[in-house]
Amino acid sequence: MRRKIVAGNWKMNGSQLLVQQLMPEIVSELAALDNGVGIVIIPPALYVADVLKSTGPGLEVGVQNIAGWDSGAYTGEISASMVKDSGCGYALVGHSERRQLFGETDQQIAEKVQQAVCSGVTAILCVGETLEQREAGTAEHVVAAQLRASLAGLCEDQWSYVVVAYEPVWAIGTGKTATADDAQAMHAAIRQELKALGASADKLSVLYGGSVKADNAAALFAQPDIDGGLIGGASLRADEFMSICRAIPGKG
Ligand code: PGA
Repeated sequence: MRRKIVAGNWKMNGSQLLVQQLMPEIVSELAALDNGVGIVIIPPALYVADVLKSTGPGLEVGVQNIAGWDSGAYTGEISASMVKDSGCGYALVGHSERRQLFGETDQQIAEKVQQAVCSGVTAILCVGETLEQREAGTAEHVVAAQLRASLAGLCEDQWSYVVVAYEPVWAIGTGKTATADDAQAMHAAIRQELKALGASADKLSVLYGGSVKADNAAALFAQPDIDGGLIGGASLRADEFMSICRAIPGKG
């Protein structure tokens, strides 16, 4: 049974006030949901402690980035073991904004994945193609290469600390979403690649991200290989975010 997950990536947004406004509503609405969705809130690191104080059953907390090293003289960095120690279970790794704006390489991303899985933190590994790559017909090839570069060599029990998020770069924050069929096709290809890398791919959650909103979530989440979403902008409003969580199909 794959975990159904909706993760809210606040990016560099939010405040203590937002935590106070958002979290009680999310916790109480989640308690009323019976579709088995697990929520992961991913605020800026400074607000992790505040969010952790207001979690409830079915709700976990993550960070947006981790270091590729375990400890030492790396000013400004946060290690996976610190993330675990602080009570977080998840870390985004290789988000396209990290790849594009901060020049993160596949090699660095692979090191971060290693740090996460060895510390018992679930890495949400983000992969996705640019518009040029999609138009050139190389999207599946690009995504498969990102998966191979970041996940090769994981051992059996480390795979349980991996979630993949497919986020086409052209869909992030743009209001454009992949069609449910295109997203499903890519998710099926991702699952094939994960199998080739040695994962029990049927147990691994693969999330879709990129302009997911209340009005397109149900069509995406109805696809057999889409196990939930990684939500940016729409995770900053409790009503919109919880509508997306409600769009996860029931267990039956
Ligand atoms: P968006 O962001 O939902 O605002 O497009 C998704 C993400 O970057 O994770």
